[in-house]
Amino acid sequence: MYSDRDIKILLHALSDRPVEKRENLVNRKDAIDRLNVYTRYAMSGVYGLCGEKGVGKTSVLNVVASESRAIMLSITEKEDKLTILFDMLYRMAKAMNNLGINDKLAQEVMDFVVSKREYIRSKTVGLSTVIEASIDDTDSITDRMPHYKIYEYMDNILASLVNALDSVAIIVDELDKEDKKDVLIILDSIKHVIRRDNVVVILSMPTSIYAEFVNDKMAGSNANLDNILNDVVFLPPMSDEEIKEIIKSRIDPYVDFFDDKALDYITLYSEGNPRSALWVATRLIMDNISAAHNGINGKIAYQSIHNMVREFSKVMEIMSWEEEILRILSTHDGIDRDKLIEMMTTVNRKLSTIKSYISRAKKKGYIEEVDGKLRLRGKWRFFA
Ligand SMILES: Nc1ncnc2c1ncn2[C@@H]1O[C@H](COP(=O)(O)OP(=O)(O)OP(=O)(O)O)[C@@H](O)[C@H]1O
Ligand SMILES: [Mg+2]
Repeated sequence: MYSDRDIKILLHALSDRPVEKRENLVNRKDAIDRLNVYTRYAMSGVYGLCGEKGVGKTSVLNVVASESRAIMLSITEKEDKLTILFDMLYRMAKAMNNLGINDKLAQEVMDFVVSKREYIRSKTVGLSTVIEASIDDTDSITDRMPHYKIYEYMDNILASLVNALDSVAIIVDELDKEDKKDVLIILDSIKHVIRRDNVVVILSMPTSIYAEFVNDKMAGSNANLDNILNDVVFLPPMSDEEIKEIIKSRIDPYVDFFDDKALDYITLYSEGNPRSALWVATRLIMDNISAAHNGINGKIAYQSIHNMVREFSKVMEIMSWEEEILRILSTHDGIDRDKLIEMMTTVNRKLSTIKSYISRAKKKGYIEEVDGKLRLRGKWRFFA
């Protein structure tokens, strides 16, 4: 039996927050080791850490920052490019201030950011896109083009840091906006500032940047990213065993709270994403709060996730052909494409239409092809 207090402790243990120390992190040794090499041995350069949302980028960067004594900047203001630049500059000044380096410059920069942000905001009430457009003739050049002042200050801060510390590693987290174009525009605009001797910069980025980087490299051309990023580390989804370990280590000492089958379902749902695993584990407790006092077994877990996926799929307006694929694959897991096509002709459609349905289902993420066989992706296995 688990008491109300036990349940509260469990929910707290499963809450979503980045890991701070290596002993709380499951695996990720490869990524941490590679990033540590950059921060410790590289003389300069800009490196990316790419991975899908919730896969563990901040957690890995936290560990690297603490082990390499790197400066960690976490961007929170992300409305547009200018806001991001202001935020990054402010955080650089604050970090310098915390280190007790060039206090005068740090203070000046922080004051600059606060006053300019206010000024620009007051000038752009109701006009969020084109900042310059609303600034009138009487404004100074800094007001019209605050970017330049920002670059100048960033440059001064980096010079002060290098002067005081010999070399610096700066980690910029949360630059991973959805749109990779935005990320590249920002990087391109600050590259002349951050590419300097004795400064190593590591940035978290969306997975799409990794794909582009790899394509560039394999194409062998002098591609886009080459002059912005020296290298990229990819944080892959976690294995089933690693996901289970994350859940178990979080809920320790209540390791039997989820039975083996329930853990399997949590893992299946997560598709290798630790945030998804924590989220669905929490949801299982919340949705079954009275049953949870006896722990969560496989039967409860399956039913609960099934209900939830059903609920979600209503909002997604699953079409009849999609539903057919989902149904067939839920009883024939891992079948040949031809076999699926054969089973689907029962609805009397043209072969070409059916083939396009299958491609669409793949693109939409319902199904995946493993070793030439089609099967449902993790979350959709709870559909039927
Ligand atoms: N290797 C790991 N070991 C233990 N917990 C992990 C691990 N990786 C991620 N987590 C947990 O998963 C959740 C998501 O991790 P984190 O916030 O680091 O991901 P992220 O990639 O930075 O996400 P976002 O894209 O939203 O910034 C956190 O609750 C974190 O504690
Ligand atoms: Mg993060």
